[in-house]
Amino acid sequence: MKKVLITGGAGFIGSNFVNLLMEDRPEYHITVLDKLTYAGNLKNLAKWKDNPHFTFIKADLFDKIKIEEIFQKESFDFVVHFAAESHVDRSITGPEVFLQTNIFGTFYLLESIKKYWSPNSNEKRFLHVSTDEVYGSLGDSGFFTETTPYAPNSPYSASKASSDHLVRAYHHTYNLPVITTNCSNNYGPYHFPEKLIPLMILNCLREKPLPVYGDGKNIRDWLFVKDHCHAILLVLENGRIGESYNIGTRNEKNNLEIVETICKKMDKHFPDKKPHNRLITYVKDRPGHDFRYAIDPSKIEKELGWKPKYDFDSAIQQTIDWYIQNENWWSEILSGEYLKYYQNQYGIN
Ligand code: NAD
Ligand code: TYD
Repeated sequence: MKKVLITGGAGFIGSNFVNLLMEDRPEYHITVLDKLTYAGNLKNLAKWKDNPHFTFIKADLFDKIKIEEIFQKESFDFVVHFAAESHVDRSITGPEVFLQTNIFGTFYLLESIKKYWSPNSNEKRFLHVSTDEVYGSLGDSGFFTETTPYAPNSPYSASKASSDHLVRAYHHTYNLPVITTNCSNNYGPYHFPEKLIPLMILNCLREKPLPVYGDGKNIRDWLFVKDHCHAILLVLENGRIGESYNIGTRNEKNNLEIVETICKKMDKHFPDKKPHNRLITYVKDRPGHDFRYAIDPSKIEKELGWKPKYDFDSAIQQTIDWYIQNENWWSEILSGEYLKYYQNQYGIN
């Protein structure tokens, strides 16, 4: 039986990964460590709460003493580190917590591992989940590979880049058994509705304006969260220590294409409200808005035989269906802190 610590397991990708592990690795014991920020939600994990293979610890990674205590008490085999402040727009208006969680939080985890994991422990692994945004912005051509130089442009990506460098350094200097993954933009169930895809789905459902930044031509490389989680599990169990792996599915779309796709699918679900694209509203561009991200996933494909299972059309449909069927999940979120954030970000309710 492996003991697995999952930081940020109550967030979007983390909770999808917990679901995958609980279903596919019933012999593992999973401990989720999460601060439960606005983005963390225990509802995402509700079905596991009474399972003897599942433990939840509410803790802040920025609390060094608490993190050390957890590692002193429990000997984990794997640590999968998802916890982060993850939204670029929030990092532009309030960067400090990004440095605290993403840089210092990762540092305290690494320090605890250095202190409590025996040196050269072959079986143990720390998997650091990072982003393609650390590589900066591409023009019309080219792809990010594992050797692309880092050039982060937002406080969010700078804080993630910083954490990647610390992880690398703790392997190089102290021989910690680390692996880093850098993935492209995820989408799927449990995605917090501040990010493009869930925001557009929920605004369609509520017939609210669909705020497109700038001219809508910025490009992202969209990865279904379930494909991402399978890739992480593969890297965790079979990846090479000290390496990094880029994860993406060669699925580039500009923002307008994404929004139009969602609108067309909504037209089919709710023909009386069509056309949903009448709700598209161009708003002020994001400061320093990266133009294009695109991942070259050849390394994980060749080395670990990873292949995505889902195509974009069926996965975006699954995602839309999930939001339509789970109003009880999102209706609670769309109050309180979210309303304040939304008003501040978009100038409207
Ligand atoms: P998320 O914002 O949905 O969830 C983050 C989770 O971390 C939440 O549960 C939150 O409560 C927790 N958390 C935040 N600060 C914490 C702290 N100080 N201590 C403990 N827990 C804390 O994020 P996500 O989209 O699931 O992203 C997970 C990871 O994947 C992040 O590291 C992110 O940088 C990376 N990533 C995400 C994407 C994406 O498209 N969502 C793309 C590339 C990389
Ligand atoms: P987002 O989901 O915030 O992810 P990231 O900035 O990390 O890539 O944004 C994805 C793209 O969508 C990005 O180019 C910004 C754009 N966007 C909008 O046009 N309108 C919005 O309301 C949001 C949240 C994002």
